[in-house]
Amino acid sequence: MPLTKERFEFVSQLALQRSAIVLKPGKEYLVQSRLDPLAKSGGYESLGVFIDDMRRKGGFGEMHRLVIEALTTNETLFFRDLHPFDAIEKKLIPEIMVRRAKERRIDIWSGASSTGQEAYSVAMLLREKFPELASWKVTIIGTDLSSKAVEKARRGIYSQIEVNRGLPMPLLVKYFEKVDAGWQIRPDLRKMVDFRQMNLIEQWSHLPRFDLVMMRNVLIYFDVSTRKKILDGIQNTLHPEGALLLGASETTLNVADAWQAENCGRTLVYRLKGERGATRTLAN
Ligand SMILES: C[S@@+](CC[C@H](N)C(=O)[O-])C[C@H]1O[C@@H](n2cnc3c(N)ncnc32)[C@H](O)[C@@H]1O
Repeated sequence: MPLTKERFEFVSQLALQRSAIVLKPGKEYLVQSRLDPLAKSGGYESLGVFIDDMRRKGGFGEMHRLVIEALTTNETLFFRDLHPFDAIEKKLIPEIMVRRAKERRIDIWSGASSTGQEAYSVAMLLREKFPELASWKVTIIGTDLSSKAVEKARRGIYSQIEVNRGLPMPLLVKYFEKVDAGWQIRPDLRKMVDFRQMNLIEQWSHLPRFDLVMMRNVLIYFDVSTRKKILDGIQNTLHPEGALLLGASETTLNVADAWQAENCGRTLVYRLKGERGATRTLAN
């Protein structure tokens, strides 16, 4: 049975308020396909009855939380788009290593880390290309709204299909071990990444000041004012000379004017404009 307009509006308002994900009319199929299994597993006779029950209950309980989780798109893969990882290897890490040679520490954030492939890709890259960092304090934090995705990232177990997507065979052999459910990241690499559940539209707490922020393929789900708030938030948590990487179809242009894009091979790296960096340096 197709979703009524009222029920679709209720779900899209809930998604907007709790995750900032925008579901415009036309996305009824997505709501239906993501929420049908939830309604079934909850024993509801239809998705409509399930949504009506949520409306009646009001507030924000477990049921609402599960709905938000189900509406997130967790698509990701190892070394997604390749070029950003070239920029990290050829320019960003060497630059950070010069800048932070005294403290010997690097802080990296994979915002919207989904099931962890992006953060583990960075960890493998550091291990492979920068062995000298073994004596540095390297922190990679992965955060995502979806607690299911965060749990999977922490476990670090991926199916054969998932490891076939983007992961070079030599890295699979070196950094994973075969387990019943597929391939698990070896404990020493898993220890390099700290995964946490965090909603980008709520308070960002306990984050260090980052040298590199990867906020890729998540801004696309938000409206312009939410994108701006998130970019402003990153501005306050990034070293003045730090770097931001966005997804291939995302930009700061016409969203937040504190940023400028710099070509780095075949990818764009976003930096804070000069005077912002200077102001923040003074404030530190
Ligand atoms: C398409 S994945 C991107 C994963 C990875 N960054 C990449 O580029 O491959 C988008 C992720 O954003 C997360 N997300 C959506 N809304 C969010 C929010 N309000 N706060 C934090 N994460 C959110 C989803 O749970 C999902 O895992």
